[in-house]
Amino acid sequence: MNILIVGTGYVGTTTGLIFSEMGHQVTGLDLDKNKIKALKAGQLHFYEPGLEDLLSKHVTAETIKFTKKAKKAIKENDVIFICVGTPKGTDGSADLTYVKSVAESIGKYMNRYKVIVTKSTVPVGTADLVTKWITESQEDPIPFDVVSNPEFLREGSALQDALNPDRIVIGATSEKARAIMKELYKDFNCPIVETNPKASEMIKYAANSFLAMKISYINELARVCDVLKINVNEVSRGMGLDHRIGPHFLHAGLGYGGSCFPKDVTALIQIAKENETALTILEKVVQVNEALPLTLIEKLKQALGGDLTNKTIAILGLAFKANTDDTRESPSLILIDRLKAEKGKVRVHDPIVKLDGPPEQFPSIEETVAGADALIICTDWEVYKHLDWASLKPLMGQPNIFDGRNMLDKEIVEGLGFHYVGVANH
Ligand code: UDX
Repeated sequence: MNILIVGTGYVGTTTGLIFSEMGHQVTGLDLDKNKIKALKAGQLHFYEPGLEDLLSKHVTAETIKFTKKAKKAIKENDVIFICVGTPKGTDGSADLTYVKSVAESIGKYMNRYKVIVTKSTVPVGTADLVTKWITESQEDPIPFDVVSNPEFLREGSALQDALNPDRIVIGATSEKARAIMKELYKDFNCPIVETNPKASEMIKYAANSFLAMKISYINELARVCDVLKINVNEVSRGMGLDHRIGPHFLHAGLGYGGSCFPKDVTALIQIAKENETALTILEKVVQVNEALPLTLIEKLKQALGGDLTNKTIAILGLAFKANTDDTRESPSLILIDRLKAEKGKVRVHDPIVKLDGPPEQFPSIEETVAGADALIICTDWEVYKHLDWASLKPLMGQPNIFDGRNMLDKEIVEGLGFHYVGVANH
C-alpha cells in the first residue's frame, strides 16, 4: 500500500519505518525543512537506539521517502497517518492546531478515496472533528474514512515496541476502512482490538494514565516506606509478582516525565471536566508526581545544613529517562530550576543531551562532580550504575549521593564512606 505519514517525530518516523519494513511504500511529510533534509540523508534528528540503521536501509532501498510537499504527497497516497504533535494547551487540554491544519490540507488536496488515521494521542471525539474539518475543506465531496489507531511505543525502545506491540487498536466506523487497516497490520502477531473511534481514543488516554497512576502509587507508598525504614524496591517486587498487578511501572524515583504521561493525564482530567464529571484519582496522580522533586530538595537541604545557597550540586542525567535525548517535562530540569531558585550552583552531565545554555555542562562525570557538595542521579542511564565511586569520592567537596532512580547498591557506596539517600531504598 502507499502510506503517507504526516509528522516525522518519534511516532511518525518509527511508524513509517515499520510499514516500510512490512513491505509498504512510505512517504514521510513534515513542514520542518531541517528534519526532512536530515531524514532524506538517512540521519535521525533525534536519538533513538536502532532506528537510524533501519532509516538508512529504507532510504537506500527507496521504500521510504521524505518530502515537504503536502499536495503531491496527499494525492499520491491511499492511507494517511496523522502523527503530528498534540501539545498541552493552556487549560491542560490537548492542542489540536496541527491536527486541524493537516485535516484541512487533506480535504483540500485529496483526489480519491482515502483512509485517514489518527495516530497522535488525541481527545475523545477527535475522529469526528477530523471528519468535519476534512469535509469542510473539500471542494468536491470525495469519500473518505477516519480511523483512530493509537500508538503505544515508548521512547528509548520505540523500534522494539512498534515491531512487537501488545495489541493493535483500530477504532473505525466503516467496514471498508477497518478491512484496509487489518490488511496493513496483517503481519503483526498480536491481538487486534476492533472498536469505534471514541473508545479507541479513550483506550490510549486510559492506558497512559493508568501507568502514570502506578508510578504515582509506588512513589507515594515510598514516602510511607521511607518513614517506616522499608525498602520500597522489595515492596515493588513483592507486589509485581502478583499477575494481577504485574512488575512494570512500579519503580519508585523522581516520577514520570516525557512527552506523553504529563500531557495525557492532564488532558484526560480535562476531558472529564468538560463532560461535567471528575477524575479525582488522576488529579492526585499529578499532585504526587509534581511533589517528588520538591521532596528531594528537602532531603538535600537537611543533608547540607538547611540552606543550598552557594552549595555545588552535580546533576547526573537530563533526559526524562534513559536511552532518549528528550528532556520534555524531565524531572531533572524541574529539579535544576528549583536548585537555582535556592541559589545553589548547578553542574550537569548527560551522556546524550546537550543543553544550549546554562547550567554549566561537563563532558565527563569526573569534571561534573568536582567540588560538589552533593550529586543527584536524575536519569537511569546505565552508565551511572557502573561508576567508579572510589575514584569519584575524593573529587567531591562532600560525599553525598542522592539516588533519584534507586539505581545504586547502597551497601557498596556506603561502604566507601558516602552518605547515600535513595527513594525509600533502605
Ligand atoms: C509512554 C508510554 O509508556 C507509551 O506507551 C506511550 O506511547 C508514550 O508514553 P514514554 O513516555 O516514552 O512512553 O516512556 P515510559 O517508559 O513509559 O516512561 C515514562 C516516564 O515514567 C519516564 O519519566 C520514566 O522514568 C518514568 N517511570 C517509568 C518511572 O518513574 N517508574 C517506572 O516504573 C516506569
